Formats: sequence, structure tokens, C-alpha cells
Amino acid sequence: MDKILVTGGLGYIGSHVVVELLEKGNQVVIIDDLSNAYESVLDGIQKITDKRPLWENVDIKDKTSLSSFFDKHQGFDGVIHFAASKSVGESVANPMLYYQNNVVGLLNLIDACLKNNVNNFIFSSSCTVYGKPDNLPISEDEPIKPASSPYGATKQMGEQILEDFSKSHGLKTIFLRYFNPVGAHSSGLIGELPINTPQNLVPFVTQTAAGVLEKLTVFGDDYDTPDGSCIRDYIHVQDLADAHIAALNYLESSKETCEVFNIGTGQGNSVLELINSFMEVTGVEVPYEVGERRAGDLPELYANPEKAIRKLNWKSKLDMKQALLDAWRWEKNYRGIK
Ligand code: WQD
Repeated sequence: MDKILVTGGLGYIGSHVVVELLEKGNQVVIIDDLSNAYESVLDGIQKITDKRPLWENVDIKDKTSLSSFFDKHQGFDGVIHFAASKSVGESVANPMLYYQNNVVGLLNLIDACLKNNVNNFIFSSSCTVYGKPDNLPISEDEPIKPASSPYGATKQMGEQILEDFSKSHGLKTIFLRYFNPVGAHSSGLIGELPINTPQNLVPFVTQTAAGVLEKLTVFGDDYDTPDGSCIRDYIHVQDLADAHIAALNYLESSKETCEVFNIGTGQGNSVLELINSFMEVTGVEVPYEVGERRAGDLPELYANPEKAIRKLNWKSKLDMKQALLDAWRWEKNYRGIK
């Protein structure tokens, strides 16, 4: 594919995918409303790729703004849709924001794509759609349970909506169910940059290590796991970006109109293992205390990536230690720490 629309392309995962798309010779146009991203990310993308993709400040909840965008930009071969709110905890406190952004925004985008002949759609989904799985590792045919948060519900609805449009309009779509994206581009020029206090573990670790935050709290060490802390499948964001390139290539040749893939390493690591690995590979102390469990957390989640390996010809290459080193390099660059 040659010309790709990336919604949310200035965000954490979106910016890493934009870099890969540009380096593969694609033309990229970004829409992003800067609700959870900075325009300066474009500078990092340009420093890495020597290309500065077009960016328009478009809020996908605003149909008029989206329509005006497509009046100016045509001929997209596909769209990768990242523009959504993604914090489990925030969604419980503010469901209206999540249903507006993640469901109404998606419907507006689909409507615009169908009107403008954009027929290939990659949807940023999440392992949270499974709820509490019966089996581990998690395969794509694992039964979908009721979502444990409005965020998870919006991802389940998003998949259902897209499946309906793939049947009614032949929209070719792939859902990539991410496990836990971590790390940063090896250049240290782009990375995870939450606008407020980090919700996710790794940016909290790196900001604590940098002295930006005082102390990390481990949300519970009394789970039924080897060391009592929760287990997750931490996938390097560069591997995750490569999975999007593989998915685009697959879409071009696939006869299927709607497919889902788990994108994870297949390896589970606990919170305490991650913290200790960080201190081991960086030599930097991370002060932490064990606190109460966080509502909605599940004890153990990790992927069976076999379907993506087999059908997308994609497999993660970088391990958690590399992701932690890359995350720390980014944090130090961003904070001006030697
Ligand atoms: C990981 C572990 C916490 C912060 C994320 C995304 C979700 C989806 C899956 C893509 C948990 C513990 C965290 C802290 C801690 N990804 N923790 N102290 O909840 O698995 O979900 O990945 O769509 O969108 O939110 O990730 O990084 O918040 O938590 O102990 O300060 O770290 O309890 O066990 P989570 P997370």
C-alpha cells in the first residue's frame, strides 16, 4: 500500500508505526487532535526518517472537520486507527468521554472512509476485550467475557461495528489486539509521553527513576502468581509497529474481510520482575512500595501469538529488558538527563 491515513499518529504507538511506514516508503497523512499527544512528536519522526508527514488537527468526533479533511486529502489505500482514549481507570470515572471518543469517533471515521473509498482498515484493539480469560496463553478464539471497564467495552463494540461493516460494505478490516506495549524507538527520539500522571507501569517506572515522580506503588502482591504481583505480556513498541506493517501487507493479499490477531510476545512477566529487571539493566534504583490492588486488574494475561506468526509472518524479536533499556534512554533524552 502506498498512501496511509494514520489517526492518532502523534501518539505513543501511532508515532512508532508512522516511522515504520515512512521508512518502508509509504506516504503518510496523520490526523490527531492533540488530546493525548504533542505536535513536537513530528520533530522526532522527522529526525529519525528525514521525512515530515502531513498532519492535520482533526477531532474524529467532529463530522464536519472529518469531512473537510477528506475534501483536501484523497486516494488513501488504507487507514490505521489509533485515535482513541485508552486508560482503563479513567474510563470508569468518565465513560461519556470513552463512548464519544471511541465509539462515536469510530462511526464517524467509518462513514468518512466508506464515502471516500478507503477500504482497508486496521483497528487498534486490546487484550482487554477478553475480560478474565479461562485459558492461558490467550488465543483469538478465547471466549469474550463482559468487559471490566468502559474502555474494554468500547473495544468490544468497535470490533462488532467493524465486523458489521465488513459484511455490509466489504470493508476489509483487521483487529490487532495489543497486549502491553512498552519501550521506545532505539534512537531515543520518540517514546511514551503521557500528558498527565502515567496510568501505565513502565512510564511510571521511568519517571520515578528520573526523579520526576517520588515513588512507585505496586498495586498488590497478594495475587495467585509466583511472586504475588500481576503478570502481563510486555511487547516492545517497535515489534508492535512491525506487526502493523505485516497486517497492511496481509490485507493487500487476503481474501478475508475481517480477521483478528493477538499481538504479544507469548511471555508473561510480573510487575516485580519488571521493576527488578529495570534496576538490573539500568543500574538505577526505583523506590517502590506495595499498596492495595487496583480495581479491574486481572492476575495474569499473556498472549498465544501463534496465529500472527503463522498468518502475518510476524514474530516479536525484542525482549522486555531491551524495552526497558529503550524506555529509559527515551526518558533520559526527554528530561535532559545524561
Ligand atoms: C500493568 C500492571 C498494574 C501502574 C494496559 C493498557 C490497556 C491494554 C493492556 C492496549 C498491572 C501494575 C501499574 C503502577 C502497578 N493495552 N501497575 N503500579 O492495566 O495491563 O493495561 O495494557 O490496549 O489499554 O492500559 O497496564 O501498565 O496499567 O498495568 O503496580 O503504578 O502494572 O496493577 O498489574 P494494564 P498497566
